[in-house]
Amino acid sequence: MYIVGNWKMNTTPSESVALASEICSLGKTSKCQIWIAPPWTSISEVLRVCANTNVLVGTQNVHWKSSGAYTGEVSAPMLKAVGIDFVIVGHSERRQYFGETSETAVQRAVSALKAELQTILCIGETSEQRDIGATNQVLESQLDPLVEHIKREDLNLDKLLIAYEPVWAIGTGNAAETKDIEEVHNFLKNWFNEQGLKQPPILYGGSVKPENFAEISSIDSVNGALIGGASLKATSFIE
Ligand code: PGA
Repeated sequence: MYIVGNWKMNTTPSESVALASEICSLGKTSKCQIWIAPPWTSISEVLRVCANTNVLVGTQNVHWKSSGAYTGEVSAPMLKAVGIDFVIVGHSERRQYFGETSETAVQRAVSALKAELQTILCIGETSEQRDIGATNQVLESQLDPLVEHIKREDLNLDKLLIAYEPVWAIGTGNAAETKDIEEVHNFLKNWFNEQGLKQPPILYGGSVKPENFAEISSIDSVNGALIGGASLKATSFIE
């Protein structure tokens, strides 16, 4: 089971050190994979805190090129070189506020996979898309570029994970219903089978918290959770 904390644009370096230290200590005996993604400015401190622990450190974005004139961007080989273990790409907030498309999200994923970083590709429908019954179609359209790249470049999927995050469930306090999560995760697993691709672990994200985690994690097709708000307190995250 993967438990991934996405800290988003929160915590100064000193707050990050305190949070990461508490997570490392509370999570010491956990059987889960515990992963945290602090903001860029805290990466080096958090890497230092998590060295020689069972907590892996990742970033919330990565560029698709390995170097070049891309002001403000950071590449996968750069992240690998400082000891980053994983990246999150295509988060709905990137899609909503920063012009991320399914194509650019997948290009980021491809460059991270090539650098041998574990890569969480986020996908999910909006409430309007769900209301008109377009959920599966939207998810397919977000994954289609991935298949094209995988086939063209013979990409190894061993380090790929998918996070299903319905946009309407993120940060709202209202997670999706168990039966809806189950339905979508099964759809995604089948979809990878139909493409002849190895099934990646599929995480659920969107208002996961201690009160609903037991139920969500009991769904067979749920391999973990991507957690925003509840990951900013070590006790609720580890619980
Ligand atoms: P949330 O965020 O847990 O605060 O809903 C999840 C996410 O954005 O990954």
